[in-house]
Amino acid sequence: MAADEREGHNLLPGNTPAGAPSAPAWFKAVGRGLLRATGLYANWSLMTQGPLRADGWLRSFREGRAVDADGRPLPWITYPAIEFLSRHVRADWEVFEYGCGQSTLWWTARVAKVVACEHEAAWAERIRPMLPAGAELLHVPLDDAGTYAQTCARWPGRFDVIVIDGRQRVQCADAALTALNPRGVVVWDNSDREEYRDGYELLTAAGFRRVSFIGMAPIFNAKAETAVFYRDDNVLGL
Ligand SMILES: C[S@@+](CC[C@H](N)C(=O)[O-])C[C@H]1O[C@@H](n2cnc3c(N)ncnc32)[C@H](O)[C@@H]1O
Repeated sequence: MAADEREGHNLLPGNTPAGAPSAPAWFKAVGRGLLRATGLYANWSLMTQGPLRADGWLRSFREGRAVDADGRPLPWITYPAIEFLSRHVRADWEVFEYGCGQSTLWWTARVAKVVACEHEAAWAERIRPMLPAGAELLHVPLDDAGTYAQTCARWPGRFDVIVIDGRQRVQCADAALTALNPRGVVVWDNSDREEYRDGYELLTAAGFRRVSFIGMAPIFNAKAETAVFYRDDNVLGL
């Protein structure tokens, strides 16, 4: 085999001068040259290979929905957090979620029980038909008594994971202290928001440590943060 063939340059049939690239290679080289000259090579590379394509970000941006590259639902949290949770999720977990959506579909495909709490009636009714039997979706309107945030506390000491991704997040964190089992963890989206500081401090005061997953999330072209709050002995093995 000629050296150029070993290096991936397939020679054209016939008496092509040694070292001349094949038509496809020649074409690719010209294409790359043009893309470089116009400053579009990085864009081309991002669109055709690598994590933005593989994780489904391009598709989610196009469709305005949190989906992976094959159109399956993803939680609308950062990709590093999705990656982490995907590796640690266990089929026997029971999960409570504030703020339903694609995430509810993602969790129901992976754990034993999901209870989701949603304040917006129209949104709840859009998600409800997509849920399998067994998943519970509660529509709880916002009121002055804090009924929405208190919803998870109806199940004291039960949940392995409580996802905070809806409204009244500080109050939800307070209720989560009642509803988590002793090894349970909190997944808190948009945990870079200063307005939730009282909630982060409440969890820290209750003995939780925090790990933050920072990076891109589906749909938007921006960096975001999702935090996991956990205690010493926890379901994630942290
Ligand atoms: C950040 S979203 C919750 C998303 C959900 N946890 C997920 O990861 O898919 C917070 C709230 O936005 C509202 N909402 C309205 N339109 C929405 C949409 N297209 N996608 C997601 N949430 C939407 C719902 O009331 C929802 O509870």
